[in-house]
Amino acid sequence: MWPANVGIKAIELYFPAQYVDQVDLEKFDGVSAGKYTIGLGQSKMGFCNDREDINSLCLTVTQRLLERYSIKPEDIGRLEVGTETIIDKSKSVKTVLMQLFEPSGATDIEGIDTTNACYGGTAALFNAISWVESSAWDGRLAIVVAADNAVYAKGSARPTGGAGAIAMLIGPDAPIVFDRGIRASYMKNSYDFYKPDLKSEYPTVDGKLSIQCYLSALDNCYKKYCEKVEKKQMGDTVSLATFDAFIFHSPYCKLVQKSFARIAYNDFRNLSRDKVLQVYPQFEKYHSVKIEDTYFDRDIEKTFVQLSSDAFQQKTQPSLYISNLVGNMYTPSVYSGLVSLLINKPINELLGKKIAVFSYGSGLASSMYSITVLKTVKAEDQLKTLISNLSYVKRHLTERKCISPEDYTAILESREKNCHVVPYEPTSPVDGMFPGTFYLVKIDNMYRRTYSRVPLS
Ligand SMILES: CC(C)(COP(=O)(O)OP(=O)(O)OC[C@H]1O[C@@H](n2cnc3c(N)ncnc32)[C@H](O)[C@@H]1OP(=O)(O)O)[C@@H](O)C(=O)NCCC(=O)NCCS
Repeated sequence: MWPANVGIKAIELYFPAQYVDQVDLEKFDGVSAGKYTIGLGQSKMGFCNDREDINSLCLTVTQRLLERYSIKPEDIGRLEVGTETIIDKSKSVKTVLMQLFEPSGATDIEGIDTTNACYGGTAALFNAISWVESSAWDGRLAIVVAADNAVYAKGSARPTGGAGAIAMLIGPDAPIVFDRGIRASYMKNSYDFYKPDLKSEYPTVDGKLSIQCYLSALDNCYKKYCEKVEKKQMGDTVSLATFDAFIFHSPYCKLVQKSFARIAYNDFRNLSRDKVLQVYPQFEKYHSVKIEDTYFDRDIEKTFVQLSSDAFQQKTQPSLYISNLVGNMYTPSVYSGLVSLLINKPINELLGKKIAVFSYGSGLASSMYSITVLKTVKAEDQLKTLISNLSYVKRHLTERKCISPEDYTAILESREKNCHVVPYEPTSPVDGMFPGTFYLVKIDNMYRRTYSRVPLS
């Protein structure tokens, strides 16, 4: 017998205390005004200076989760990390996080790291759910950490960076529950975004191909998800109307709006020809086009963005709040969508609701699944605590420091120069970092990293 209501019991989000403004970046890059802000839908981009790396991001978010919810380290039986920010080809980030658990004698903790572009956090989450639902489960809780420092080489992809970390406490009797047996995945071999140069933090990107891969993964996951629900629930038809909210991995917000429209287009394609002729006779020409020919069809895109615009505002726009202000955090991105939704919707618009989740990682790995926010007295109490514990998010977003594109570029150049250089001592100031943030103190000549922490207050 599986434990009941396995899901998210607590969430902690972290993003660095500095950002670059996309309007300033447009001017600095010499592109036309509006390209990043309107064209990509991004306002600000968070980034790490040389005080932060993947280990420090994960240490910060994990320790803050443990503290905020008074979680005893010995109550954690599994700790998973999803990341594509690789600084060591052997030693997992998870092992670095063990320094938070060892002092309590808590070393009986399963799990290591999982990697595939922005999908690693979802794979880590699936591992944690599987553990809780398996014969290996010993009654303790799991923590899933997803974190990345998303930086691009100079050029058109640079404004789609970001940085951050998320930690989720997974276990039974949760208020936010994963629906069982209807997860759909789409995995394929593609070279749309990958990191073959192990000496560089930057990916190799085929931007246009990555958009096509993302949209085609979305089509395929949605189709499979619909089939699974229909089979399991014998006859129920899934459409956008099935979901109260739809959250997506967000490389940039504009792509998410197009993705929402893409789901509306899939629903339209699922209609019978007779129905189309009856309700949308003017769009009949879009009904039988080969799906492969539609990814960059401007007319179809525009039509369905317009048709789905009200539903988008209601079901997805609230989940883009953090993505717009921090950028693509890679693995945490889709889960920052969940945080955005939780902090932007009144609680009565969350209880009892169904949320669809689409997670995509280039290369490619993707899944669609759904979660249900329970509507019980206990779940309401748990959710109230969870949301009130996220009240710092909006405050921290406004307290961040704006850095000029010139300084941002200099910081990235310095990261490029010092990538894998040892011994190394970071020079960026520590004051200004949020309370409780871990930071890099030094890397010694055996590549061992030492961290310290900004006091909590
Ligand atoms: C996404 C990416 C390919 C865009 O780079 P690009 O080719 O230079 O950008 P585009 O010329 O397509 O411009 C981006 C958008 O801004 C629009 N735009 C350009 N100038 C504009 C302006 N002044 N005002 C308003 N919009 C403008 C473009 O029309 C385009 O929108 P559209 O796609 O709806 O037509 C690039 O940032 C990238 O490679 N990012 C990393 C990979 C990624 O995030 N992939 C997503 C899937 S994982």
